Amino acid sequence: MNTKELFDLKGKVAVVTGAGNGIGKGCSEILASAGASVVVSDLKLENAQATADEIIKSGGIASATACNVLDENELSALIEFAVKTYGTVNILVNNAGIGGGGRENPFKIDRAYVERIYAMNVFAPWQLCKLAAPYMEKSGYGSIVNITSMSSINNEANMAIYASSKAALNHLASNLAFDYGHMGIRINCVGPGATRTHSLASVLTPKIEAKMLAHTPLHRLGEVSDIAGAVLYFACPISAWVSGQVLMVNGGGVQTLDM
Ligand SMILES: NC(=O)c1ccc[n+]([C@@H]2O[C@H](COP(=O)([O-])OP(=O)(O)OC[C@H]3O[C@@H](n4cnc5c(N)ncnc54)[C@H](O)[C@@H]3O)[C@@H](O)[C@H]2O)c1
Repeated sequence: MNTKELFDLKGKVAVVTGAGNGIGKGCSEILASAGASVVVSDLKLENAQATADEIIKSGGIASATACNVLDENELSALIEFAVKTYGTVNILVNNAGIGGGGRENPFKIDRAYVERIYAMNVFAPWQLCKLAAPYMEKSGYGSIVNITSMSSINNEANMAIYASSKAALNHLASNLAFDYGHMGIRINCVGPGATRTHSLASVLTPKIEAKMLAHTPLHRLGEVSDIAGAVLYFACPISAWVSGQVLMVNGGGVQTLDM
């Protein structure tokens, strides 16, 4: 067994959503460092471009494009951009997601909020899977990684919609694994615990952090690189016989906002 080959993505094309910042940016960087040509997409083109520029500066291959995953036409355009730029799609990281701040008072949110969370966290990943799968099958290599959340298996206050949307994303993957297996496509999920990004910073207080650390055996919060490492595993040939799985990356513990 050659370790280098098992982690080699040279010649493979990866598409990452929400890649202008945080976990999506980290995933783009690590996939590029393994040799993939990365389509870095984000709602904000300038952030996507900054990620792509950093990759290129480090010797990697990347192209930036704008994609609002809430817009069906932009999802189609994203896959078309990847095919036009690099010829196919082999790896898809459904990273862009919203919610999770413990701000979902069930008596205050309305249907439009619920629809928006599900559109972002479930419908967009589903649609991108559908759009990318034929290219993955044709190319002979396909790996999809959904970024879900520890919330998908936790129970806590004011998180019902986000948590259930991420649980749906887990279940989408474990079921699509059956539909896609014969096409040579694997689909798995990475569920981050509390990971230091802008979205976490918007809800983290010293008190919440201290409580989270008390429930985290490895006694630190996650870094983007911790999550990106798990995504790399699922993207690479080393996980060739792994599909339909959810890997929680959480320091061995459970970090919730209301502990
Ligand atoms: N950070 C955590 O603690 C944590 C924990 C569990 C799960 N997650 C999940 O990880 C994923 C990434 O979160 P993050 O913490 O890196 O967030 P982040 O806020 O750091 O980055 C999110 C990125 O997504 C982009 N984005 C926002 N709306 C978009 C849209 N409509 N279309 C395309 N891109 C859009 C933003 O511009 C930004 O670049 C999300 O799915 C989130 O639910 C994060």
